[in-house]
Amino acid sequence: MERAASGVERAESNSDTFGESLTMNPISRRRFLSATAAAIGAGLAYPRAGGASTIEWTERRDLYPQGVASGDPTPDSVILWTRRPPTPDSRTRRLVVEVASDPGFTHVVAQGRTSVSAETDWTCRFLAAGLSPAHEYWYRFTDEHGFGSRIGRTLTAPAANDDRPVRFAFVSCQSVTEGACNAFRRMIFEDERRPPEERLSFVLHLGDFIYEVVWYADEKPTRYARRIRDVYRLPEGEKIGDLHVPVSLEDYRTTYRAYLKDPDLQDARARWPFVCVWDNHEFSWQGWQSQQVFDGKTRPAQTKKVFANQAWFEYQPARVRMPNKPSLDAFAPPRVKDAPLETFDDLGLGLEPNNLAAINSLKVYRALRWGRNVDLIITDNHSYRAEPPNMDAFAQKEFRWALPQDAIEIYDNGRAHDNGRPPDTIRFGERDIPNDRKLSPPQSFLGHEQKRWLVDRLKSSTATWKIWGHSFGTLEWRTDFQNLPAGTRPKWRGGTYGMFSGAFFLERGEILDLLRDQRITNFAIVAGDRHSFWAGTLSKGLPPQKFEPLGVEFITGSISAPGIFEAAEYTIPRTDPLRALYVHDRPNGEVWPAVNMSALHGVRAALTLAETGDVARALAASNPDVAPHLSFVDLGGHGYATVRASAGELETEFVCIPRPLERSERPDGGPLAYRAVHRVKTWRPGERPHLVQQIVEGTPLLATKGDRRG
Ligand SMILES: [Fe+2]
Repeated sequence: MERAASGVERAESNSDTFGESLTMNPISRRRFLSATAAAIGAGLAYPRAGGASTIEWTERRDLYPQGVASGDPTPDSVILWTRRPPTPDSRTRRLVVEVASDPGFTHVVAQGRTSVSAETDWTCRFLAAGLSPAHEYWYRFTDEHGFGSRIGRTLTAPAANDDRPVRFAFVSCQSVTEGACNAFRRMIFEDERRPPEERLSFVLHLGDFIYEVVWYADEKPTRYARRIRDVYRLPEGEKIGDLHVPVSLEDYRTTYRAYLKDPDLQDARARWPFVCVWDNHEFSWQGWQSQQVFDGKTRPAQTKKVFANQAWFEYQPARVRMPNKPSLDAFAPPRVKDAPLETFDDLGLGLEPNNLAAINSLKVYRALRWGRNVDLIITDNHSYRAEPPNMDAFAQKEFRWALPQDAIEIYDNGRAHDNGRPPDTIRFGERDIPNDRKLSPPQSFLGHEQKRWLVDRLKSSTATWKIWGHSFGTLEWRTDFQNLPAGTRPKWRGGTYGMFSGAFFLERGEILDLLRDQRITNFAIVAGDRHSFWAGTLSKGLPPQKFEPLGVEFITGSISAPGIFEAAEYTIPRTDPLRALYVHDRPNGEVWPAVNMSALHGVRAALTLAETGDVARALAASNPDVAPHLSFVDLGGHGYATVRASAGELETEFVCIPRPLERSERPDGGPLAYRAVHRVKTWRPGERPHLVQQIVEGTPLLATKGDRRG
């Protein structure tokens, strides 16, 4: 779509009434923009000539307590967002939004009006249209009294034929009741100091934007060495164990409102457009489709899934669809009731009508393009996810967070295992455990419809880099418990590797087969969820199977939520013989993440480190078959990651900060732990991607294949 013509005199408008003095096909253009805005449930900020603002505006951040945000930019438009709730002495229903090419608003290029109401929890979404590609803009909202929001900054995407490198950040997992958003402060600090052409174009948020489960400080004042903050209380909520979980729309809205009061998160949303997708916690910790799981029991929760979707829609400015709904600014919640899922399609999608209505109330999988170099393909990994198999029969509590790889694969593949010949039983120690999933479909998180869409996107992409925004990532995390010394007690009953990461082997394999068969190269996954930094290559199999890398994957550490190393540090007793596989206790009292070494090199390396304290000797005991796919693992790291995608190379940078126990008052958000860079050059069909690592600053403890210690 072309840019709006100049010469428009004060074409002030809102979503129903547009200015008439446009010079280029005003009616069709108006209809097109209006339809685009309506399809995503947004009002329209329509282009105007570009004079100085005529609005009386006094900044009153207190009246816009969640700040401003923008999202999902294209070359000519971006969605703008704010929330203006009523206060006892200042009510308003009408807002004006202005978009300017300068922060002083002397050159306003788009303007629109909308109303806010309780129906959307006083939030509003505007499509600012008719903008120029790869441009920096400023925007603000003003109420009927002239009281204005803070000024936000946003950026449009480069045009499809623009060859410039694209730089963006990816983040996940901010838990504001357990830690601080220092990572966002550092991201802002560093970006402000970069040359304009090297600045971030957007922030990809891969989910756990909120944690719907919350502890209350008076009931649980600490977790590990963290202080639980008394940030908010759910107005209704339900207590399960010592956690409180939302049960109503107001509960989910309350959570977003509280999270967005974080000053560093709010500043980040005001500085860059965000591209958001949910992970699990936007709905329910162990949820799948519209069902929740607590204490191993599944609860129908169609009503809560709709509440979660509605709150997400209201608080995230994203180009997402409410299928089969008329054009509405407000979310259109389907009427659903909670009902168990009893019949499923052949990928495990529950066909119960309320389930389908709830999960289809919002489709968040989508693709966005930045110039010639980046196609960003974002999937919803939870709404269509099959019921996770119960693997309790294979759990050995001493081998924390791990299950036998063969059992995971057999359960995961279901009736498709071994080309349709699944075993009747699975050997576990001295027992043969019945294969409960012998007749079940293989595990899927994509579902049929989304998988078809993803395959089409990958096949048709013309961008240099096909980047899959995948909330939880796919890199295998395992270690060779089978190689523990013979006398180790307890004994590992799993036979082969212990796996800590997930599943979906066949589905992931289908995508990798597609890459190979369709000769699709330059494919990268960026992910979050694991609360740890990972870099590696994507192969359908690991030793003893064939290792054939066809893509690369990078996972970012959490903004603040605790990771596995922290959990191990505080929960595995020093007397536990297996602690050495997770935590390396130095004589001086330091603790190092031995769990990194177990993942990269295997148990013998970690045990040698415990015995000798010598990293070089530990590395000499490495088992190269454990992780030929991994270049970097830090299960203790927090922070964010950036991507720089150019015509010849993809570069990612992990920016790791110390555990964010408290908010830093420093302008840079506190010290840096390390900065680790991975580069991969474009590759051709038949070639393997090759990651090159560079530690630019600091020391990632035990996180690389080489000798890198304190
Ligand atoms: Fe998380």
